[in-house]
Amino acid sequence: MSQRTSPAPTIEEVRNLLRAVIDPELGDNIVDLGMAGDITMADGIVTIGVKLTIRGCPLRAQIQKDIRSRLEVHPWVQKVKIDWGEMTADERSAVMTRARWNARENATDTAVPTSARVLAIASGKGGVGKSSVTVNLAAALAAAGKTVGVLDADIWGFSIPRMLGMPDRLEAERVEGSDKPKIIPNERRVGNGLLKVVSTGMLVEDEGTALMWRGLMLTKAVEQFLNDVHWGHLDYLVIDMPPGTGDVQMGLARMLPRTDLLIVTTPAVSAQKVAIRAADMARRSFLRVAGVIENMSAFECEHGTSYALFGTGGGQALADEIGVELLGQVPIEPTVAAGSDAGEPVVLTGTGIAAQVFLQIAASIIEDTPDVEDMAGCSARDGDVAEVGVTVRRTQDRPA
Ligand SMILES: Nc1ncnc2c1ncn2[C@@H]1O[C@H](COP(=O)(O)OP(=O)(O)OP(=O)(O)O)[C@@H](O)[C@H]1O
Ligand SMILES: [Mg+2]
Repeated sequence: MSQRTSPAPTIEEVRNLLRAVIDPELGDNIVDLGMAGDITMADGIVTIGVKLTIRGCPLRAQIQKDIRSRLEVHPWVQKVKIDWGEMTADERSAVMTRARWNARENATDTAVPTSARVLAIASGKGGVGKSSVTVNLAAALAAAGKTVGVLDADIWGFSIPRMLGMPDRLEAERVEGSDKPKIIPNERRVGNGLLKVVSTGMLVEDEGTALMWRGLMLTKAVEQFLNDVHWGHLDYLVIDMPPGTGDVQMGLARMLPRTDLLIVTTPAVSAQKVAIRAADMARRSFLRVAGVIENMSAFECEHGTSYALFGTGGGQALADEIGVELLGQVPIEPTVAAGSDAGEPVVLTGTGIAAQVFLQIAASIIEDTPDVEDMAGCSARDGDVAEVGVTVRRTQDRPA
């Protein structure tokens, strides 16, 4: 066993990490739902008791994977063991009361719905293709019939409105259940899916307006995009991060701890070293890295000759170093840049390798995301909700 220099987490720290594990069907984290029980720690091994609503819950594998990946970000943790249990009828009823309360809250709340998978596209340095990856993945997910929020968290270096061909100004409106106006995302249909997009580029007069926001204001702006936007239903929220690490990432970790980072790097070894900083930052803020995307991989000319303009191997090396999968290698193709300039992501129009790789990455993300609708019955929801029969009327009645 490797030598551990970092101290063991406290029980409370473990519980906080577990608060990022959401039971997608019940729409809340496993700690507040009362699913996480005893926690013991010894020799780098965390053992945690988890009670499922019913033993054969099909979400079990997903919950297990989430618990592991959330706890393993702590440097002390070498291994995670889970003792599975089943709730009693009373415990199940209490959970259902809480889930009902959440469902009610979400119906009127404009915050990002708990059912949405949140993917932040990050990198250690600028210009590696985060925004290109954001718009192409979002468009590919929408083309697969998903409803996809796109949040341009690059507050003063925004590029999403142009890249998606959505220059319209954002409007605010009074929505049911809220006492102040909410920002209504701009929408664009893609096949059977929908993009819902917010960006500071949709708030300022024109693309050339310089926004000199720093620190707290950046975090505040992102917070507003998370809380004061009427997102409605979302399957995914894809967040285009500003270059580097810092305030926005820390703010996101605090506000949406279930965010998964996708780290973009170029194939150059120097870029990969910088990208590791983004992964380090993720570790310190306890965000999970869901995978690496190598962008600007070898360019292939029309004669089939391959030119590795920015080197080779950086994506795989980074993925290996942080212990995640390399989700894809997007080659340099002029159509990627041209598509972004024209507001038509290449994934919607192109037939080249870049478009295909973006489609494959989107497909693997969909495959890796549990479909809550298909798993109905896991919590024996219908029977129990009927049994509980509690109506929660006001937010202050939130069940303990
Ligand atoms: N695979 C690719 N092939 C060709 N051009 C690309 C590719 N990926 C990105 N580009 C181009 O490279 C430039 C930088 O890309 P992009 O704006 O997506 O990077 P970024 O990481 O978001 O940058 P910033 O850090 O400034 O926000 C853009 O002009 C974009 O069109
Ligand atoms: Mg960008």
